[in-house]
Amino acid sequence: MAPRRWLGLLLSWLLLSLAGAYFPEERWMPESPPRAPRVLVALLARNAAHSLPAALGCLERLRHPKDRTALWVATDHNVDNTTAVLREWLTNVKSMYHSVEWRPMELPRSYPDEEGPKHWSNFRYEHVMKLRQAALQAARDMWADYILFVDSDNLLTNPDTLSLLIAENKTVVAPMLDSRAAYSNFWCGMTSQGYYKRTPAYIPVRKRDRKGCFAVPMVHSTFLINLQKEASQNLVFYPPHPDYTWAFDDIIVFAFACRQAEVQMYVCNKEVYGFLPVPLRSHSTLRDEVESFMHVQLEVMVKYPPVEPSRYLSVPKKVPEKMGFDEVRNNILKMKSIYRVDRRTRSPTLISGPGWRCLSIVDRGLEKSVVFEDDLRFEIFFKRRIMNLMYDLEEEGLDWDLIYIGRKRMQVEHSEKAVPHVRNLVEADYSYWTLGYIISLQGAKKLLDAQPLSKMLPVDEFLPVMFDKHPVSDYMEHFENRNLLAFSVEPLLVYPTHYTGDDGYISDTETSVVWDNENIKTDWDRAKSQKMKEQQELSSEARNTDVLQSPLDSAARDEL
Ligand SMILES: *[C@@H]1O[C@H](CO)[C@@H](O)[C@H](O)[C@H]1NC(C)=O
Ligand SMILES: *[C@@H]1O[C@H](CO)[C@@H](O)[C@H](O)[C@H]1NC(C)=O
Repeated sequence: MAPRRWLGLLLSWLLLSLAGAYFPEERWMPESPPRAPRVLVALLARNAAHSLPAALGCLERLRHPKDRTALWVATDHNVDNTTAVLREWLTNVKSMYHSVEWRPMELPRSYPDEEGPKHWSNFRYEHVMKLRQAALQAARDMWADYILFVDSDNLLTNPDTLSLLIAENKTVVAPMLDSRAAYSNFWCGMTSQGYYKRTPAYIPVRKRDRKGCFAVPMVHSTFLINLQKEASQNLVFYPPHPDYTWAFDDIIVFAFACRQAEVQMYVCNKEVYGFLPVPLRSHSTLRDEVESFMHVQLEVMVKYPPVEPSRYLSVPKKVPEKMGFDEVRNNILKMKSIYRVDRRTRSPTLISGPGWRCLSIVDRGLEKSVVFEDDLRFEIFFKRRIMNLMYDLEEEGLDWDLIYIGRKRMQVEHSEKAVPHVRNLVEADYSYWTLGYIISLQGAKKLLDAQPLSKMLPVDEFLPVMFDKHPVSDYMEHFENRNLLAFSVEPLLVYPTHYTGDDGYISDTETSVVWDNENIKTDWDRAKSQKMKEQQELSSEARNTDVLQSPLDSAARDEL
């Protein structure tokens, strides 16, 4: 039995071998992988000339194939060089990308209802919603698989961010962006009116004690929408849903739209994807809260971790201080925008400065203003301490013009004179690093009378001159009345923030009060009813721009 079985096996083998010899199998190639998905990157930029070189550098370094990436770029209402920067970049990169849609609008430079270039007015909210909707429509029209929204000051330093987000396979997903404070681009809680709600879940996610992708009620600034998902078809940025009664704020409107479409928002924190500056948008709650105890002018200078700027932008030539300044003055006098000196480079930056601040303070008759000149870390109980100070000043009837709340003392060998009956206050000696100060209307008038606009001096130098404590007499000669009544809190209430990545940058938030969503409760109902009222007033007025209706300007198309 056994030998016959063996014979059978042998025969079959012989037959198969023969067949193989006569019909050799085609030498096969392995199947190629699928092409990368089609992504439209939507960039909305406004007054972002300072952040764009880094932000665009990050975009161009994303590893997603550029021939599978389309760019959709809009800019308008600028008082700075944003349009020129974007135009130069798009001109240089457009051949690498699948396509480029460019929507520049030079005029007007401001919204009719805004107080300054950082102010989020209702016109501005509405305009942004329409732009996002137009970008979404463009992505759908070109059958893009994904649309990635990126704010122009968000730095996606991780070149794999896009692919990592795509791999998450969610309809709406954001990379958690780091900032120097607790602030990020997601919320963990939302009130029944759609406002930010502080929850215990936030910090563990923000600090990456918990890692993963989390269902959250809000993501904003930078996020990816997967247009392949059925439910994505129901997502809209504008107009707000008919049932929408919450605040007229683009991010809240979109979060609501996601709910209506039964789309869950997700934030992922598995990696470090990038950074964003702590914002001054009204939904950050900062402005309303602070204004409730003192009128605050916030123009926080936004600094970034060192990020390589775009390779496709020319490096701007150093402009002599006066020239740069005159341009600023001409352009933005109306905007009450402000010039400042960059601490590291000592070059002027188009953000802030004592002259413009004073102009604006005097203009609006603000009795007391707090001015922050930089990205700051706030000492614990900052608010309570500053309120105590204001109380003591009032009680004591002290005549004061300016009080440093953050600075560097330059002559530490002798101590400064304490002010009697006012807790934690000294007469200021020569100080540097004007990080933050409180200024009275009278002080602002004095500074304005000294005409800092015509005699360019960095704010750090100008203030000590004005209270007659500057060691360089040459500087002092230019100013007659150096009678500013200057004090300083001691100990200081604000310090410069660390650069991200420095040791301890996040632990700062544990010991100090950070002024962002996390730490401040706001009277939202009041804010909301005010906003709704404003919006109703506005909606009856004519709109200055209608992004959705206007076809793409053909001049813009030809421009690149
Ligand atoms: C504006 O940006 C363009 C393009 O990057 C640059 O060539 C030009 O020098 C910039 N102008 C100013 C005033 O910074
Ligand atoms: C993505 O999620 C969908 C459900 O929405 C699922 O059907 C699909 O298999 C997932 N794709 C991958 C690659 O995991």
